[in-house]
Parts: sequence; C-alpha cells; structure tokens
Amino acid sequence: MISLNNISMRYGSKELFDKVSLRVAGKDRLSLVGSNGAGKSTLLKVIAGMISSDEGEVAISRHTTVGYLPQEGIRFMGKTLYDEVYSSAGDINKIQEEMRQIENEMSEFEDTSTDEFMDLVYEYGELQERFQMLDGFRLKSKIEKILIGLGFFEKDFDRMTNEFSGGWQMRIALAKLLLTNPSILLLDEPTNHLDIESLIWVENYLMNYQGAIVLVSHDRSFLDNITQRTIEISLGNVTEYSGNYSFYRTEKEIRKELQENQFNNQQNYLRQQEKFIERFRYKASKAKAVQSRIKLLDKVDWIEIEDEESTVSFTFPPATHSGKTSIELSGVTKKL
Ligand SMILES: Nc1ncnc2c1ncn2[C@@H]1O[C@H](COP(=O)(O)OP(=O)(O)OP(=O)(O)O)[C@@H](O)[C@H]1O
Ligand SMILES: [Mg+2]
Repeated sequence: MISLNNISMRYGSKELFDKVSLRVAGKDRLSLVGSNGAGKSTLLKVIAGMISSDEGEVAISRHTTVGYLPQEGIRFMGKTLYDEVYSSAGDINKIQEEMRQIENEMSEFEDTSTDEFMDLVYEYGELQERFQMLDGFRLKSKIEKILIGLGFFEKDFDRMTNEFSGGWQMRIALAKLLLTNPSILLLDEPTNHLDIESLIWVENYLMNYQGAIVLVSHDRSFLDNITQRTIEISLGNVTEYSGNYSFYRTEKEIRKELQENQFNNQQNYLRQQEKFIERFRYKASKAKAVQSRIKLLDKVDWIEIEDEESTVSFTFPPATHSGKTSIELSGVTKKL
C-alpha cells in the first residue's frame, strides 16, 4: 500500500497541487487526468518515489513493490532484447528469503483473525505468485508471452536493445515491468506508442492484473476498461471521482451545472442586497438594516467558478499544391 498525505508541489510560481492525500492499495484501478502540464506525470513520479514533494509525505508499506513506466526518456543498451527483459526477473533467492521471513512472522501469531495476519497472508500470496512466475521454465514462457503480446517477433529476441526505436524502447520497459509483476503499477501514457493489436493485449493484461494500477492515458476507452477511480488535476485542485473516465465526464458536467446554478442564485442575491444597501446607505432610519445586510454579505461563503482551462484554437491554412513529385527516395532501407 502507498499513501500520500498532504502532498504539495510547485514549480516556480506554478502550484501543481496543494495538500493532496491519496491511498493506493490492493487491486485499486486509478487514472490521473488533466490537461497538458496539469501535473499528472509529476504526481506519478511522487508516488513512484522518483522525486520528492515540497510538503507532505509518501508512505509505502513493507513488501509493497512499485513499478513505474515513465512517459519519456527510456533507452536501453548493452543487452539483447531477451536478456534485458530477463534481467528484470530479479533475484529469486531474495523472494524466497522474504517468504521465509513472513512464514516466521505468521507462526508467531496467536490470533489469526486480525487484519495484521490477513495482511501477511496477502503479502505471502503475492510473493508466492512472483516466485512461481520466475521459476525456471515458466519464466522463459512468460517472457516470450509478454514480448509477443507487446508486438515483438521471435526473431527480435536476440537483437540488441539499442537497435529498437523510441516507441519500441517503451515496449521493452513495459515488458520488464509486467514481468516483475509489482504490487503497484504506475504507467505514464503506455498507449502512446502501441499499435491496436498490442494495445488490446495490454488492455486485457491489465484488466486481469492482480495488483493496483495508476494510469495516465489519453485513450478514453483504455481508461474506461481498466480504471474504477479517476483523479482529476486541474488548476492546482485535485478532485476524486468514484468511477471510470466516462463516469468522470458525466459527473463533472452535472457538478458544473449545479455549481453554475448555485453561483447564479448567489449573484442574484448579491445584486439585490447591493441595491438595497446603495439605496438606503445615507438614510438614517435604515442605517441599522443596511449594517446588518453588510454583515450578512460578509458571512456568505461565495462560490467561485473556475475558468475553463485555456484551449488553443488554430486553423490550418490551405496547403499550396505540391509539384508533381512530392518525395523521391532511392536506395532507402529501414530496420526495426
Ligand atoms: N523538473 C521540472 N522543473 C520545472 N518545471 C517542471 C519540471 N517538471 C515539470 N515541470 C512543469 O510542471 C508542470 C506539470 O508537468 P507534468 O509533466 O507533470 O504535466 P503533465 O500533466 O504530465 O503533462 P502532459 O500531459 O503534457 O504529459 C508543467 O508546467 C511543467 O512544465
Ligand atoms: Mg505527463
């Protein structure tokens, strides 16, 4: 389990989020949504422990393993594709050691109905699964299954990783992550470089994933199929919605309408009161009434409507006609 407590973060004068608290555990399925530059990747990096927040704390429970796929900047070199993925299988002895440790702890429990005991059982189950997966023959077939699922061919397995282009580097990183099977998977735009077949494969894989997933993606149906909670980051505010992306859109629209209605009612009320105050402010006989209305206005909790996040509007000028031959290539080769 990971819990974020009152996390605040700013870059220069831009406040990304203020006092965010969040808990990710078990089989939670979250997405982080928000416009470009809202802070999705930053929040994911904070959860992953890659960067520290300005304020607040991130607590991670013992035995929780976290896997993080960054949005960009992935580059592997020095190994073949298969060996690179294999190398992330980790130390099987270490897992065995942890399992022994938990067995010892469990044997000391007198009351096996407590939450603490159940936590240990859960952790043990996770370790057992990882152990089985990494075990000998299973490991090889698992690696192959993941690589093929992500769109690699068998003939790619012995190629050096640096021969693969940027999008394929992301797939290598994803393959490594899926193989290690962490209890919390943090994925920053994993769909960006996937073709439709691999995308469907990843979607299915994640739908059946045994751990928690925190996802950033612009693919709405991917989000809808995988996530069950949506965290919106907008203008420094973080709001949680208890459903997938479609639920979030509908709910947001309803909340917005409701808020606009309340805002309009409040503004009408304000105008009426201001009219009254303006009209009678110099009339001695009404001085008390005017004062009490001013006091009343002071006490109102005024609703603020957030401006829509700025949208960019642009048009493409009509393209001028190209010559008869647009591009001419000769002696071109391409390797994947
Ligand atoms: N290391 C940094 N130093 C200064 N500013 C940063 C740094 N990292 C991010 N920012 C700024 O913080 C804001 C949030 O960035 P972040 O990458 O988290 O956004 P995002 O929601 O992931 O955007 P996108 O949808 O484009 O991936 C942006 O304005 C970005 O320029
Ligand atoms: Mg980002």
